[in-house]
Amino acid sequence: MSTFPIYRPRRLRANENLRRLVRETALSVDDLIYPMFVVHGNDVATEISAMPGCYQYSVDRLVTAAKELATLGIPGTILFGIPASKDPLGTEAYAEDGIIQQAVRAIKDTVPDLLVITDVCLCEYTDHGHCGVIGGSNEIQNDPTLELLVKESLSHARAGADVIAPSDMMDGRVGAIRDALDENGYQNIPILAYAAKYASAFYGPFREAAESAPQFGDRRSYQMDPANAEEALREVALDIQEGADILMVKPALAYLDVIHRVKTEFQMPVAAYNVSGEYAMIKAAAQNGWVDEERVALEALTSIKRAGADMILTYFAKSVASSQ
Ligand code: PBG
Repeated sequence: MSTFPIYRPRRLRANENLRRLVRETALSVDDLIYPMFVVHGNDVATEISAMPGCYQYSVDRLVTAAKELATLGIPGTILFGIPASKDPLGTEAYAEDGIIQQAVRAIKDTVPDLLVITDVCLCEYTDHGHCGVIGGSNEIQNDPTLELLVKESLSHARAGADVIAPSDMMDGRVGAIRDALDENGYQNIPILAYAAKYASAFYGPFREAAESAPQFGDRRSYQMDPANAEEALREVALDIQEGADILMVKPALAYLDVIHRVKTEFQMPVAAYNVSGEYAMIKAAAQNGWVDEERVALEALTSIKRAGADMILTYFAKSVASSQ
C-alpha cells in the first residue's frame, strides 16, 4: 500500500453541501423555453394525448398560460399554430390575421415581458404537410419556399415576435430572412436557427399536437440524416455566415455529441430542443410507475446543459420551474 496521498473522488461526495460546491452544471429556470400550441376558437384547451400536460390552446387560454409562464419566471415561449384551413402554399402561415399573428399580438398586449419566439415553417399550414412548396414530381422546392418563409417571418415580426425561429431546413433561409428583416426595420430581431435539425422519429407526438404529419413521403430530403455529425457543423457554419444569432440542435438527447461539438467549435449561444418524443417517453414510463418522472426529467435536462446547451426548449419547463 502506498503511503502517498491518493486522489479519492468520494471525499467530495460525502454530503450535499460538498456536492453543491463542486457541482459543475446548474440547470435553472433561466435556461428554459416552453413550447405552446395555438388553435382557433374560444376557451379551448385540448390536451394532446401523447403529451400529457400539454394543450392546444385558443388565444384567450394561451394568454392565461403565458401569464403563468411569466409568474414561474420562465424567460420565453415558442409558439406553433394550427390554422383553420390548409392549402398547398400554406397561406395562413403568412396571413396578417393568422393564428400565430393573433397569438403573438395577444401575448404581447398582456404579458409584454415574456419573450415570444415564433417557429417559422410551412408544415402546419400546408395540406400536404411538408415544410416547403411541392414541385411537379413531388419534390420539395427550395428557393420558391424561401419567399414564403420570408413572408411568414415578416408577418410574425409585424405582429410583435421577439425572436424568429426558422425550422424548415431549406438551404439559405436564414440569410433570406435576415435580409428581409433588416430591410424592413427589424434589425434587432434575433434569429434562432434550427441549424442542425434531424429527420427524427422523436417528433411523432408533435405531429399530432401541430397536426403536421406529412401526407406522403417523409422529411429526409430536407432534414438531416441522424447518422451525421460533421454535416451538422457545416449546417451550423452556414447559418452563422447567414446571420443566425442562436444555433439550435434538435432533438437533444440522441444528439448530445452534436450539441457538444457545436458549442466547442463555434462558441455561440446554443439551444437544444428536448422534443415531443423525448417528453412522451418519460411521461409514459412515469405513468406506468417505471421511472421517477421528476428525477429522470431533471437528469435528462441537466445532461443537455452539460453537453453545452445554453438554453433548452422543453415541455418540462413548467414542472422544472415550479419545483425550483
Ligand atoms: C416544424 C417543427 C417540428 C418540430 C418543431 N418544429 C416537426 C417536424 O419537423 O416534423 C418538432 C418538435 C417536437 O417534436 O417537439 N417543422
